[in-house]
Amino acid sequence: MRVAMIGTGYVGLVSGACFADFGHTVTCIDKDASKIERLKTGGIPIYEPGLDLLVASNVKAGRLDFSVDASEAVRNADAVFIGVGTPSRRGDGHADLSYVYAAAEEIAGLIEGFTVIVTKSTVPVGTGDEIERIIRAKRPDAQFAVVSNPEFLREGAAIEDFKRPDRVVVGLNDERARPVMTEIYRPLYLNETPILFTTRRTSELIKYAANAFLALKITFINEIADLCEALDADVQQVARGIGLDKRIGNKFLNAGPGYGGSCFPKDTLALVRTAVDAGSPVRLIETTVAVNDARKKAMAAKVSGAVEGDLSGKTVGVLGLTFKPNTDDMRDAPALDIIPALQALGATVQAFDPEGTHEAKSLLPGVDFKADSYEAATGADVLVIITEWDQFRALDLDRVKLLMNAPVLVDLRNIYKPEDLRSHGFRYASIGRA
Ligand SMILES: NC(=O)c1ccc[n+]([C@@H]2O[C@H](COP(=O)([O-])OP(=O)(O)OC[C@H]3O[C@@H](n4cnc5c(N)ncnc54)[C@H](O)[C@@H]3O)[C@@H](O)[C@H]2O)c1
Repeated sequence: MRVAMIGTGYVGLVSGACFADFGHTVTCIDKDASKIERLKTGGIPIYEPGLDLLVASNVKAGRLDFSVDASEAVRNADAVFIGVGTPSRRGDGHADLSYVYAAAEEIAGLIEGFTVIVTKSTVPVGTGDEIERIIRAKRPDAQFAVVSNPEFLREGAAIEDFKRPDRVVVGLNDERARPVMTEIYRPLYLNETPILFTTRRTSELIKYAANAFLALKITFINEIADLCEALDADVQQVARGIGLDKRIGNKFLNAGPGYGGSCFPKDTLALVRTAVDAGSPVRLIETTVAVNDARKKAMAAKVSGAVEGDLSGKTVGVLGLTFKPNTDDMRDAPALDIIPALQALGATVQAFDPEGTHEAKSLLPGVDFKADSYEAATGADVLVIITEWDQFRALDLDRVKLLMNAPVLVDLRNIYKPEDLRSHGFRYASIGRA
């Protein structure tokens, strides 16, 4: 198949490279000329493990290329994927669909012969209908079908998720699109990946329902963690005790500082708005959003509590800024709430992140960015782990203690055992554990 991918970000670049690796011929297109320039000269604009090698091998094999100009790739394509951003619209929390609709306008002017237009971006129910309307209005003559094919990959494990997904969802209302989508995902049929064909609207809703459920599950265990602290119980044992029940499952039961990232915050908000507009509100998700927002802000008080409730004039060392490990993505990272709140309480913040520093610099004014964990600990009155990068799991605790002004560790990801830290002479606070 010949594939054009409009939007070469975290989703578009990974999807495009993986489709090429399946054997399709793929052109990844982006308006951002610097991104395309970088890709054309062998660079990778984002940090995603394994992506550099995957891109390089498929470029070398002649199956993957990059362009700022969509014309040729779209004209020749069997399928044009839209993988542009759908951020929260300022003010009301709806998904901002302006990038999606601009892409649809552009595609409309270019398609030749029967073309399947596939929305990979996360878009509210009814967006496919509108894309179809836009293209039909501009090109009444065109032969096309608009399909929904939401993406479920996780940053940091994106290639594995794309190549070995739990399922693929394809929403279509025009049967002509089915053989094209089947052919594109044929390599996954061989792995026996379940491929769910459904209607376009149902497919659009599946993506939001999945993300809302996962956000709810995280928020549930976070509230249970607070209850554990109040009742002197251990949230990790509770999570294990409930997670072994197959009806519940053990994933997404790690208590922490609240969910963030490029998807859950905006997708939960957008679902809330869609549901209100449809006259069928989703109260559980409204509450999830509110509880999670409050939680992120409350984390500064937890840090303050570890130093007798007074952060003024104190130095806080922070380990981890990205919303999760193995990405450089800072979008809606909990650190963006927690660090300004620490500064507002009078703290000076020095921080280290393995991949996120470049992005974080413009988002976190007043923070002193350090080159490694030990520099971030040096002279600190308290050290806070916000993101659980592997390299923070085996710190030389004796060295950290010597470097710090006082041995206090606040572990917002529960990556250490309380007894280990105490035996090294640290005052230690974590989430939902005595
Ligand atoms: N990031 C994730 O983990 C993830 C996972 C699943 C789904 N999604 C969804 O996928 C979509 C894309 O997310 P992302 O994280 O890849 O976003 P991103 O911001 O990393 O990438 C979007 C890219 O699209 C480009 N773009 C915008 N308009 C364009 C146009 N008209 N023509 C060409 N390029 C254009 C931008 O320059 C940018 O490079 C969103 O809807 C998101 O919700 C993201």
